Amino acid sequence: MKQLNSELKEYIEKNIFPKYDKFYSHGMIHINNVIDNMLMLADYYDLNCNMAYTIASYHDSGLGVDRENHEYESGKILVNDKELKKYFSEEQIETMKEAIEDHRGSRKIRPRNFYGECISDSDRDFDIKLLAKRQISTSIKHYPELKDFDEHFERCHQYICKRINDKGKFNLWTNNPILVERRDKFQEEYLNKDYAKSVYKREWDKITKDGTYEKIINYYEDY
Ligand SMILES: [Fe+2]
Ligand SMILES: [Fe+2]
Repeated sequence: MKQLNSELKEYIEKNIFPKYDKFYSHGMIHINNVIDNMLMLADYYDLNCNMAYTIASYHDSGLGVDRENHEYESGKILVNDKELKKYFSEEQIETMKEAIEDHRGSRKIRPRNFYGECISDSDRDFDIKLLAKRQISTSIKHYPELKDFDEHFERCHQYICKRINDKGKFNLWTNNPILVERRDKFQEEYLNKDYAKSVYKREWDKITKDGTYEKIINYYEDY
């Protein structure tokens, strides 16, 4: 892999990563996973690894501003960051902004550029335990009217199943073989609803006992 610019990396670590401090579902575990996936794809497709790293690092940074439109808020944070002009051309910044704006899994239209396809695919949780952890917390925060585990699980499962495309698969834009393999294993597990429910239940039992549930409601700022 081509080397990441160490100054850029340091700038992002110091100035962007702290934006995720008060996020739970979108905290640094998620961001680091997305960075790993993006760098893997950048290597595979011979993309600019500094752009890949920057896109992944900024992609959810706008969540604290407006959850529903966070892809646009994150894009604004990137475009308004003057420091990035030291490392990238106007055109590269525009490409990164478009990629971030197009990253959401609920989007049905193909992203406008290939970096957008890569960040969208990198953002998917094809790991059922991690998805359970992230999705249960989002559900608790965003749907306080749901009264018990069964209601939360049903909503979570339905929401993710809406992402199955017309070919009967959880969508991937790039169809990268490494991600396809992960996706297929995940899909088999997730569509076994009893199994998926047991994984979500373990996570629910854990966070309702260890104080995380209250922290999600009272402390964390993401949804
Ligand atoms: Fe996002
Ligand atoms: Fe994300």
